[in-house]
Amino acid sequence: MDLFSAMDQRRSIRAFLDKPVPRADIENIIKYAGKSPSAINLQPWEYVITYGSEKDRLVRRLKRVHSERSVPCGPGTEKPLPENFSSRSREALKVMQPKIAETGEEFNQFIEQGSCSFYGAPIAIIVTIDRIFPKLRYLDIGLSVSYLLLAAQAMGLSTCPIGLITSYADEITDMLDMPAGKEVLLGIALGYADKNSPVNDFKIDREDSSSIMTWYE
Ligand SMILES: Cc1cc2nc3c(=O)[nH]c(=O)nc-3n(C[C@H](O)[C@H](O)[C@H](O)COP(=O)(O)O)c2cc1C
Repeated sequence: MDLFSAMDQRRSIRAFLDKPVPRADIENIIKYAGKSPSAINLQPWEYVITYGSEKDRLVRRLKRVHSERSVPCGPGTEKPLPENFSSRSREALKVMQPKIAETGEEFNQFIEQGSCSFYGAPIAIIVTIDRIFPKLRYLDIGLSVSYLLLAAQAMGLSTCPIGLITSYADEITDMLDMPAGKEVLLGIALGYADKNSPVNDFKIDREDSSSIMTWYE
């Protein structure tokens, strides 16, 4: 698959087949994630891969803590978002809600429970950065994660980035016995898409590129 096709076809997948992903494929995807550029070649990204019974243990823990703390999915901003941003999110909801309703589950419940269980994917990846780095280095992590998502797409695998779980970073680092200096930035569900699920039967549009460009000439 060429790069543009992978970019066009990638979307977040929220139902996965119960089909294992070969370890060599996961290693290959992470290898490509590591090919991303970074400031002075620091390569500050770190990927913790959980699968099998360890992934199940992580999911159980996340579901339990979510039932206690119930942190909702949101933009993470302190003030309400201005209209130009919130309208994009509303547009996405308009596309997603009817499809998720087909499962019979309430929308927020589906997203929150689904996020905590990596939507049933066989692989749950935790993306971390060492706390010695300033927030500017999150940019390097984002670039690497993009490479990861596209590499997975090119290999016929699907993904969903999961930010919700960072609200429970303390539980994740404790369960996985991570060194204290690691910050959890993102989760990623990885596996084979269930193409028959209604929750995967939509594609979320983007703004026209003219609205994200400013030209000086
Ligand atoms: C940093 C980040 C965090 C995200 N967190 C979640 C999440 O917690 N749960 C979820 O279902 N989707 C999550 N998503 C997926 C977004 O909802 C999705 O990327 C967006 O709606 C655009 O849709 P697309 O990925 O299908 O193009 C996240 C995406 C990113 C980049």
